[in-house]
Amino acid sequence: MGQELGGFFGFLIIVLYGLTVLNYIVKWVNKRYGASMKTHEKGYSVFKKCMKIVIRNHKLFGLLTVVFLLTHFFIQFNQYGISMTGVVAAGVMVLQVLLGLYGFLTKNKGKGWLLIHRSIAVILLLSILSHLILAF
Ligand code: HEM
Ligand code: HEM
Repeated sequence: MGQELGGFFGFLIIVLYGLTVLNYIVKWVNKRYGASMKTHEKGYSVFKKCMKIVIRNHKLFGLLTVVFLLTHFFIQFNQYGISMTGVVAAGVMVLQVLLGLYGFLTKNKGKGWLLIHRSIAVILLLSILSHLILAF
């Protein structure tokens, strides 16, 4: 039971991570394919609705990762003790959320900030993959 529950919350962290990264992907798709999608009016309006949901809720998705991260941590730590790859992934994720909050609160964040925030998203993916693949 605990094993499944712990894994389930780990899975939820990954789902929310995916939703935060969609922020980048929907904008990219819109920029690259927006013009040709507009020729299918209905399809494009559905896409635009999804894009709005993804962009508007980015901060919420980002903050919710921390809630599931804490839940996953408490369940797994009580069963297995510490996981080094888990701690690294968690550290990168908390750093990313703090950076996101900083960018949101200081309005003049600039291009450098966005580049760092995007880069950490990639590093986070790699650290999560290492946590799933390596058994420590
Ligand atoms: C971004 C942070 C994290 C993510 C996305 C994540 C995700 C996951 C997922 C999806 C699993 C299930 C893997 C499977 O069933 O094969 C898992 C397993 C595990 N996680 Fe995490 N985790 C994170 C952080 C942590 C932290 C901080 C700890 C510290 C205790 C931890 C401890 C564990 C352990 C011990 C397992 C293995 C359980 C087993 O052997 O069945 N994780 N994690
Ligand atoms: C797991 C956590 C997070 C990940 C992986 C993540 C990832 C990203 C990515 C990839 C972008 C680039 C989107 C683009 O190119 O426009 C972005 C933009 C942004 N993020 Fe995050 N983010 C996370 C959490 C947060 C949090 C918690 C906040 C604030 C509370 C935040 C605030 C922002 C802001 C202000 C932008 C600028 C673009 C926009 O407003 O949509 N992020 N994030």
